[in-house]
Amino acid sequence: MRHEEQVRVIRTLMDHLDRGTNVDAGVIGKVDARDYTCPERAALEWIAFFKEHPQVIGMSGDLPTPGSFITANDFGVPLLATRAADGRFRAFANVCRHRGTVLENAPRGERTRFVCPFHAWTFDNLGALIGVPKADHFGEVDKACLGLIELPAEERHGLLWVHPKADGKLDVPGLLAGLDHEFETWDFASLVHVGDDTYETAMNWKLAIDTFGETYHFEKLHRDTLAQVFYGNVQAYDIYGRNHRMALCVRSIDQMRSMPESEWNVTMGAFPVYYLFPNIQINIGLNAVMLVRVYPENDDPDRSLSRVSFYARPEALAIDPAGTRGVPQRFAEIIRDEDYVAAAASHRGARSGLVDHFLFGRNEPALHHYHATYRQALGLPPLETVKA
Ligand code: FES
Ligand SMILES: [Fe+2]
Repeated sequence: MRHEEQVRVIRTLMDHLDRGTNVDAGVIGKVDARDYTCPERAALEWIAFFKEHPQVIGMSGDLPTPGSFITANDFGVPLLATRAADGRFRAFANVCRHRGTVLENAPRGERTRFVCPFHAWTFDNLGALIGVPKADHFGEVDKACLGLIELPAEERHGLLWVHPKADGKLDVPGLLAGLDHEFETWDFASLVHVGDDTYETAMNWKLAIDTFGETYHFEKLHRDTLAQVFYGNVQAYDIYGRNHRMALCVRSIDQMRSMPESEWNVTMGAFPVYYLFPNIQINIGLNAVMLVRVYPENDDPDRSLSRVSFYARPEALAIDPAGTRGVPQRFAEIIRDEDYVAAAASHRGARSGLVDHFLFGRNEPALHHYHATYRQALGLPPLETVKA
């Protein structure tokens, strides 16, 4: 984030604190409770936002060295991503060209050759078929035509993007919209991967996104945890195309008032949370970054999973390795054990059929934007609003 923007965000938060205000959407949003439970809607979303939409699958630190690989299978395509000797990130369908078995089953590791567990056809990390056992018995095949199916892939500002369709269009600057320049400044590429977690929850995937979209709940739901560190119901909020950035207000902002602006760093007094359409949250702490990827379980409206990846600033890891490595546990105790428990309860409320709509307050603009945006992407009527 450019320094002038950091100052603007901190000033916005201080101003809200001084006036007792918060960001204001101007209206109340009214969302149909069936948006979270409707199987037809879930089927549409699965295709439009997952099977056929560009995906962030991780950060550069997930492929730290030539020979690293990761796999994923969350959006309808088994995926194998590699970094080859040339340093390039590539993505392939993780599907053997003999009889379709998933080629690599480990979630991550170091390997330059992938041997199929079924009959041992072997591929290198450029996707080429380099070995067919008993080739004289199998019969002649044109190895050059039987490489792994390569998918559009781009590594930009430390994020790994993939299109799940081989002929899909991947325009990452377009997807980042106004955040393209801002992401350049965070130096995500230097982050070190320190852990992963998965939260499987009986709730619609959009409820997981919603929980990252406001701080109105901090003083109740997180009274003994986040509310000790953050001022609840105070945030700075900015929209970048289909994406947005929220800056949560950290209580240590008070100490910044006596510092010259030239020494301000936004993460001293704010906690930026970026939402990237359709399913990504990037949480930026002083020393650690948490990437959250939210997926429905196929087209099931009632189940979702969140893949959470943790990254550390190398200098923080060197100074406080134990503290940095404790972040996944602390994150789970808040997001999994507090937010997602409440969100799963909302899902049961939606499922009850007794409440026909939920409300998004004027102080929850991220929820307005997210629901309005995804509805627009599906060609649905706009989010209903009521004057407040
Ligand atoms: S399915 Fe992979 S070698 Fe046969
Ligand atoms: Fe929360």
